[in-house]
Amino acid sequence: MFSFAHVSDLHATPPQLRGPMELLNKRGLGWLSWQLRRRRIHRPEIVECLIEDLHAQRPDHVVLTGDLTQIGLASEVEAARIWLERLGPAAHVTAIPGNHDAYVSAPWQERWEPWADYMVSDGVEPTSLSFPSVRRRGPVALVGVSSALPTGPLRASGCVGTPQLQRLETQLVELGRARVCRVVLIHHPPVAGVASPRRALDDAEALQAVLVRAGAELVLHGHTHRSLVGELPGPQRPIPVVGVCSASEVGSKPGKRSQYHLIEVEERVTAKGDIHFSLALRSRAYRPDGSGFDPLGEVHALS
Ligand SMILES: [Fe+2]
Repeated sequence: MFSFAHVSDLHATPPQLRGPMELLNKRGLGWLSWQLRRRRIHRPEIVECLIEDLHAQRPDHVVLTGDLTQIGLASEVEAARIWLERLGPAAHVTAIPGNHDAYVSAPWQERWEPWADYMVSDGVEPTSLSFPSVRRRGPVALVGVSSALPTGPLRASGCVGTPQLQRLETQLVELGRARVCRVVLIHHPPVAGVASPRRALDDAEALQAVLVRAGAELVLHGHTHRSLVGELPGPQRPIPVVGVCSASEVGSKPGKRSQYHLIEVEERVTAKGDIHFSLALRSRAYRPDGSGFDPLGEVHALS
């Protein structure tokens, strides 16, 4: 049995300006949104509480599906590094970026270099970070996809892009031959209709086509700040697709209060010698009184 936690959308780094010039772009609107609304909704003390609960649950690994920051300032990226270290060492925690972590155009080294050891593929130097990343842990291969790119004001869409999709297909086919449990991590939901057009994954259909051809055992996403279980077609059977609430949400709307997921993977060999992965999902939710996290609902069999 291998277990891992799925955490997303920390948004737990209060923007610390190093000068007004930092707001002379889309960040100006984002900073205003943070001051007027988001700083009351996304609370760092909830992330503190979540991390404490998560350590008590002792999963074998933790994955984060993006949006560690608010407006992707350099000061936030440095602060988010501390959250990553609180979750665990880089070998134990895998992160991918979200749209808030790519708020304005910049080379990746300026955006995510402090996180590179938490994102990079096994055996690759952090200075050579690229996506998809592949990290093998137990029976699982974590395949990190970046859909994070700068967009215009009031947009939060994402795109994987053709070169990354081609690399993803090659990697999924190879990992399928190696008979490991392929878990694809992506910030934007790949299922149509889950996010509004201005917040959606622009090339979701192309990603779905890759998944139909190459297959995967599970897709995990963030972005919606809601816990969702859906599926996409796969080559032999449907692929479960799971989204999770924001880690820091106070519960501004029904169904939005902070949650994280625990996923258990059990590998079984069938009588014919085939390998089957049983995936079970448990949710843990922030208590309304703020005193900790509790189990939410029953164990959900994903496959
Ligand atoms: Fe988010």
